[in-house]
Amino acid sequence: MRRDFWNLLAILKYRTNRPATIPVPVDEGQRIGDVSFASQFPGIPIHNIRVADRVPADEASRLKYYFYEFQVAMYRLFSPMHPDLPSIDEDPRKAVLAAYTRLHRRLFPAPQLPEEYEGEVDLGHLAVAGPYAGYLERAPEGGYHWDLRHLARYEHHRGLRSLGVRVLFRPDEQVSGLRAVEIDCELGQCRPGDPDWGLAKKIALCAVTNHVSLVRHFNWVHLAAGGPFAIATRNCLGADHPLRRLLWPHMFGTQYSNQIATKGQMARGGDFETIFSFTHAGMCKLYEDSYSEYDIVVLDPARDAERRGIRNAGFDTPALLNQEALFDVMHAHTSRYMASYYSSDDDLRADAAAVDWMASLDRLVPNGIRGLSGPVVTIGGTARMIAALLYLATVQHEVLGTGLWNYQMWTHVQPVRVYEDMEREPVDVYQRLVNANFNLNVRRAPLLQDFSYLALDARGADAFRTFKKDLEALQNRLEAEPFTHWKVYPRKLEANINA
Ligand SMILES: [Fe+2]
Repeated sequence: MRRDFWNLLAILKYRTNRPATIPVPVDEGQRIGDVSFASQFPGIPIHNIRVADRVPADEASRLKYYFYEFQVAMYRLFSPMHPDLPSIDEDPRKAVLAAYTRLHRRLFPAPQLPEEYEGEVDLGHLAVAGPYAGYLERAPEGGYHWDLRHLARYEHHRGLRSLGVRVLFRPDEQVSGLRAVEIDCELGQCRPGDPDWGLAKKIALCAVTNHVSLVRHFNWVHLAAGGPFAIATRNCLGADHPLRRLLWPHMFGTQYSNQIATKGQMARGGDFETIFSFTHAGMCKLYEDSYSEYDIVVLDPARDAERRGIRNAGFDTPALLNQEALFDVMHAHTSRYMASYYSSDDDLRADAAAVDWMASLDRLVPNGIRGLSGPVVTIGGTARMIAALLYLATVQHEVLGTGLWNYQMWTHVQPVRVYEDMEREPVDVYQRLVNANFNLNVRRAPLLQDFSYLALDARGADAFRTFKKDLEALQNRLEAEPFTHWKVYPRKLEANINA
């Protein structure tokens, strides 16, 4: 009965959501302030994160607001969580079938098991191909690693394994890839062939999938970068500023969407606490710490790969290649657009609004933006910064959020909780995981559309149309390659992070 009620709520949320048409911007005449997270969301004790003090009028939806208020109230009155429920079916396909009902399937296709999750899972392959490829970095003693040992610091639910884990990889010349050679976790140091190797791999995958959803997706994409991007753009660039028109499709809706999603996911009894491994207190501390460690360079795949020491390192990095190709199309678009409105760096620096926008972003994004934009305002640095923001709202949001659909549901490979007694997730936890991910897949405004109606003049309109053509050309190129579930295709992308 409770399960049916919560399934119905998830289905209603999906059904009633319509992809927003991006309106032409108008000046609201009122600044958006930034305030501490804890003051805006009482009951969620996170102090260092800054959020908008209000939702702009053109984004607000009373209906959706009350829908979420109702949902959060029901967490207490009619919680979907029950103690002592049985575990999900040991056959993963049956587990999906039980949680993802016929009504769900009519709206969005059921998750598919990716090839790399069939049979023995190869962490060396997942380190360079798939949603967790962003974790690979050079290890201080040589080789490469996933290093999530810091996750041991955050309180997790009783009866679960700690997610403090490190996987060491070595290059394997035979396959021009990597091979996982050691996993260090609470089980001790395991090597391939050890009795605990399979369990240690599950702990490693559990750690990266918890981190992707909690830190890289919601904390970093939505709160650390997405929120500041929308605040700075509305406050500094008037409705008829050329950069406002360039940025607008990728930020419209952010404050409204961040507000409702924060409540639904981060409130006590919300999705994050009840699905993933950490308690509410553990999650809040993880949010505070990882927000203050944010590095804007993650929005530029080539520079991020250089920082991690994996670019041109002698092994194949297919996920990185895919991401760089998408970034390059966005960077070409923003460079063309900037060149058509600014004749020189001095010309750009004479535009007080543009300079103010960069300064505002630098103040609002944790640790600033200069690591990406450069120390002074230039056309090159600004075009790269704007490309990074487009990449954030489109590619990164896909890789770390909606794109997990075919990965995160297969908890026999990659659990969201590893129980000490080796049990699988209980049915309520799993049902909630499925519904939360289903709702991440609501329809949004597609990226592949003609945004030239937002342009101020013919120069801008040309740039928007060329961008669309370039994305279509990349789509055709990628379609000619072998299909994989993790690969990001322009046709799958959405213009922004907002439902
Ligand atoms: Fe999201």
